[in-house]
Amino acid sequence: MEKSRPYVILSAAMTLDGKIAKGRTKIKLSSKNDKIRVHKLRAKVDGILIGKNTLDTDNPMLNVRYVTGKNPVRILLDSRGTIKSSSKIIQSCSKISTIIATTQLISKKNLSRLEKFPLEIIKCGKSSVDVVKLLKILQKKGMKKILLEGGGTLNWSFLKRGLVDELIITITPYILGGSDSVTLVEGSGFKNLFSMNKLKLKKIQKIGNELVVYYRT
Ligand SMILES: NC(=O)c1ccc[n+]([C@@H]2O[C@H](COP(=O)([O-])OP(=O)(O)OC[C@H]3O[C@@H](n4cnc5c(N)ncnc54)[C@H](OP(=O)(O)O)[C@@H]3O)[C@@H](O)[C@H]2O)c1
Repeated sequence: MEKSRPYVILSAAMTLDGKIAKGRTKIKLSSKNDKIRVHKLRAKVDGILIGKNTLDTDNPMLNVRYVTGKNPVRILLDSRGTIKSSSKIIQSCSKISTIIATTQLISKKNLSRLEKFPLEIIKCGKSSVDVVKLLKILQKKGMKKILLEGGGTLNWSFLKRGLVDELIITITPYILGGSDSVTLVEGSGFKNLFSMNKLKLKKIQKIGNELVVYYRT
């Protein structure tokens, strides 16, 4: 039976101890070769989703760079619509399709500021973006495959609702430790190991000093 939402791939690079970031500082975890792999993957999906903290820390372009291919639609989850007008995503939204998914919390000021840009604003949710509704809307727009590019809070939001179909994780040769590091999955976490079905390992890829693991939910 076909799902009533797009296929969702959670993609991330983490340290050997499962961290994806150090506080609110931008860090480069993966190698150039792994970036090429990720960009090939980006070119195959319809949309890339990120959370507001990832935007604030990394100020990413979220386009396809290291390979030739089409840019997916960039989708930012930003409850209050506080994305800076100077961010790379806003500055490039006339060239690359962009969606800001926001909520009822967005102020009139931020709404009218964002409405001046050639991007789409989707209001769904009261205090945080309703990801189930959002996926339905994206599917209605014809999006079949979505790449979830974090961070940890967004990953949890999707995993806890059973909205992830595949995980592609690069294990990088670093250890960060520390309670101020962001882990692959944040939030309150599952009650125990059996709250989610055991993942199925589909593929392992060695890229230099890194290991890419492919799991299905
Ligand atoms: N290594 C990697 O592969 C990788 C990949 C991605 C990110 N990162 C890192 O991860 C860090 C950020 O992770 P994070 O866990 O702090 O934040 P995050 O997941 O990037 O963003 C979470 C924020 O998104 C907004 N949001 C709106 N609706 C949401 C919903 N339904 N579910 C979840 N979030 C929603 C909320 O902010 P508002 O209330 O303001 O809307 C929320 O606090 C950054 O340092 C970044 O560099 C690493």
